[in-house]
Amino acid sequence: MKSSPRSQAGAAGTLQVLNVAMVGHAFMGRAHSNAYRQVNHFFDLPLQVVPAVVVGRDLARAGEAAQKFGFAEATTDLDAVLADPDIHVIDVATPNDSHFPIAMAALRAKKHVLCEKPLAMTLEQTKEMAALAKKNKVRVALWHNYRRAPATMLAAQMIARGDIGAVRQVRAVYLQDWLSSADMPASWRTSKKACGSGAHGDLNAHLIDLTRALTGLEFDAVCGVQQTFTKERPTGKGKQKAKVDVDDAFCFLAKFKAKGKGSSAIGTYEATRVAPGRKNYNCIEISGEKGAIRWNLERMNELEVFSFADPADGQGFRTVMCMDGVHPYAANWWPDGHIVGYEHTFVHHVADFVTALAGKQPFHPDFDDGVAVQAVLEASLASVKKGGWVKVAR
Ligand SMILES: NC(=O)c1ccc[n+]([C@@H]2O[C@H](COP(=O)([O-])OP(=O)(O)OC[C@H]3O[C@@H](n4cnc5c(N)ncnc54)[C@H](O)[C@@H]3O)[C@@H](O)[C@H]2O)c1
Repeated sequence: MKSSPRSQAGAAGTLQVLNVAMVGHAFMGRAHSNAYRQVNHFFDLPLQVVPAVVVGRDLARAGEAAQKFGFAEATTDLDAVLADPDIHVIDVATPNDSHFPIAMAALRAKKHVLCEKPLAMTLEQTKEMAALAKKNKVRVALWHNYRRAPATMLAAQMIARGDIGAVRQVRAVYLQDWLSSADMPASWRTSKKACGSGAHGDLNAHLIDLTRALTGLEFDAVCGVQQTFTKERPTGKGKQKAKVDVDDAFCFLAKFKAKGKGSSAIGTYEATRVAPGRKNYNCIEISGEKGAIRWNLERMNELEVFSFADPADGQGFRTVMCMDGVHPYAANWWPDGHIVGYEHTFVHHVADFVTALAGKQPFHPDFDDGVAVQAVLEASLASVKKGGWVKVAR
């Protein structure tokens, strides 16, 4: 990697810069890059985010991605990037099995780290990552972007201020259908070695994070069931097939730790990649003593709200369009009612991270949150093996 004038940009410009090196440049690489490019246009931030370098395994492909995504450079030399004092943030946007080695190397080099979910392959790994981040006093974030839709952020605020009362039940599903056909080829997402688990780590991870973010509840014990309907898939190389050793669908029940003297809340979770007709149906309904809220990513700017405080003859779920100036993030975008989309959740994530970094405030989800999510994922996997309830370890 050649040296660059990146360090001078801060001195010459009005803002200090935050140079980002992004490892991996496909689906999430595209989503993250868009956020880096957009964030200073819409949020007044104390730092200018600079997409500095794409790190890939193939220089030509990384170069193409850098050009397309607006990064200054591309390289295959992660060590050189980590040794470069002008690089401040390492973004890990690669498959699950590489999160631990890449993030640990970045933490050892005292870089701030934004890591994709699930944080790592095991609970032990996530704990090591969280510990090293603290030891080396760097800031870390986990890309659970669904916390940062205007409607989910509003839901968290409503629940925190008691609008629905104490939470009793969480009903969460994340349904997709792209693996329904046995002709769909194998990939890292169908190999346990590369991803750890299937729909569970991929989709339940988001539901677990969303539950913790919206309700503040902590998982106490879980009981799971999983199924793999297609046991092998084409590799794309002739008639060769690859074994599928991860779940197509994974459901679990949850008990939460009691808050105060009340009864503990309970929850049901379902993640699947074989639900025909469901594309990205990420939906959570939270029932409290006094009311309920429901959010579905496929109608992501709407929050359904029910309250027993409404007049008896007018009760029913009402739909709040969360894109007025009073709603989280909305004023940073467009006039009232001019909606935002999937990609904006990543922009919000970067905006909040940069604000927290500069202001030395906490940012969530961090790697401790990643440990908490991993503990639930692992306990559910253990419960499938055991065939019964398993306590969530911390
Ligand atoms: N937050 C979300 O909503 C969300 C959505 C999709 C995926 N993800 C997560 O993001 C991560 C990446 O998923 P994706 O969909 O972008 O995958 P992808 O297959 O589209 O892209 C992976 C990228 O990583 C590169 N890569 C693979 N192994 C690598 C290695 N060892 N070192 C360096 N680069 C490597 C690939 O060349 C590719 O550029 C996964 O952990 C996944 O769980 C999160």
